[in-house]
Amino acid sequence: MADQSRRLAAVQAPVIPTVARWIAATPGTISLGQGVVSYPPPAEALEAARAFGANATEHRYGPVEGLPTLIEGLREKLARENGINVGPDSRIVVTAGSNMGFINALLAITDPGDEVILPVPFYFNHEMAVVMANATPVLVPTTANYQLDLDAIKKALTPRTRAVVTVSPNNPTGAVYPESDLRDLNAWCRDRGVFHIHDEAYEYFTHGQTKHFSPGSIQGASAHTISLMSFSKGYGMASWRVGYMVVPERLWDAVNKIQDTILVCPPAISQHAALAAARIGRRYAQPYVEKLGRLREIIHRELTRDASLVETPPADGAFYFFIRLKAALDPMLVAERLIREHRVAAMPGVAFGATSGCHLRVSYGTLDEQTAAEGIGRLTSGLRAIAGAAAR
Ligand SMILES: Cc1ncc(COP(=O)(O)O)c(C=O)c1O
Repeated sequence: MADQSRRLAAVQAPVIPTVARWIAATPGTISLGQGVVSYPPPAEALEAARAFGANATEHRYGPVEGLPTLIEGLREKLARENGINVGPDSRIVVTAGSNMGFINALLAITDPGDEVILPVPFYFNHEMAVVMANATPVLVPTTANYQLDLDAIKKALTPRTRAVVTVSPNNPTGAVYPESDLRDLNAWCRDRGVFHIHDEAYEYFTHGQTKHFSPGSIQGASAHTISLMSFSKGYGMASWRVGYMVVPERLWDAVNKIQDTILVCPPAISQHAALAAARIGRRYAQPYVEKLGRLREIIHRELTRDASLVETPPADGAFYFFIRLKAALDPMLVAERLIREHRVAAMPGVAFGATSGCHLRVSYGTLDEQTAAEGIGRLTSGLRAIAGAAAR
């Protein structure tokens, strides 16, 4: 008997544990690999968690879609910060993180063999989820600056296309898509009868003058747009496993069945904490994002010092750069040697579907200025040594 289903055997193994093993074996490694922030949840969220549990009913199962108080708080937040007015034709569903929102969406809208368009590089859990749902990821390139290639997306349409997925600000590239492109794509999805799934986990992380835009705010978008939001990054609440989705009302019946079966209800204590956080909103993340903006400048300056070594496309959002090495090297090998020989970790681009060329994702979400400077110094000198040796 085979150990695992063919469906799961087809899912790519996550790269993070492999990189984590190399790091664990190399004490003193500075990690530019982690896709998380290091700041804590708001004090108000921690206080709400401490106050949780006095009432006996709080220990019972709650509503599948989340607590009414949180849903109300999220409705206000979505209107205030995203311009998304959740009316009778759409619905907020609280999930155990936005990864769960994504798989909820896929299971609700795809049949086996249906196609889901993913711009490359993709967020690896999205691609894994599509395969897990027995749907087919259709990978389309982005531009040299990792912006959406709208023509490539439109050409990828087939009668089996069910959805186009966008992530902005983007993991792994840090690219932020302009409002005009998201409007264009969203209208095209509407006209072609496909869903637009938009992941906004990094909604608060834009730098300089760059603005975040939610396609769910577009007039008439609610019938075909699925917006995915998270508390993990913006509020430093990754372990609390709480996120939410805005789905067209006609998908609620399906999402209800899925979430009722898999989760029953989102964890109540996390929902209480999340409500306190949502009431504060974007302004909680603001000072941390400003600090990240300063780190971004340091890292950008170092990465662009030697243009013959790496290419660094603009990254106006999240806390990532997705660099291209100007050497034909195996990215897994480069990532391993960077750790073992130079004590610095970055994520190999192949994990994100970037299979042509040698890419690395450089993350600065958890660093202070001194560690960032030291880490990026190790990265560039390590890359020079590895690429130089390869050229000889
Ligand atoms: C684009 C993107 N979406 C979703 C997630 C996961 O969010 P959550 O913790 O809410 O499941 C991540 C985490 O790295 C991410 O990068």
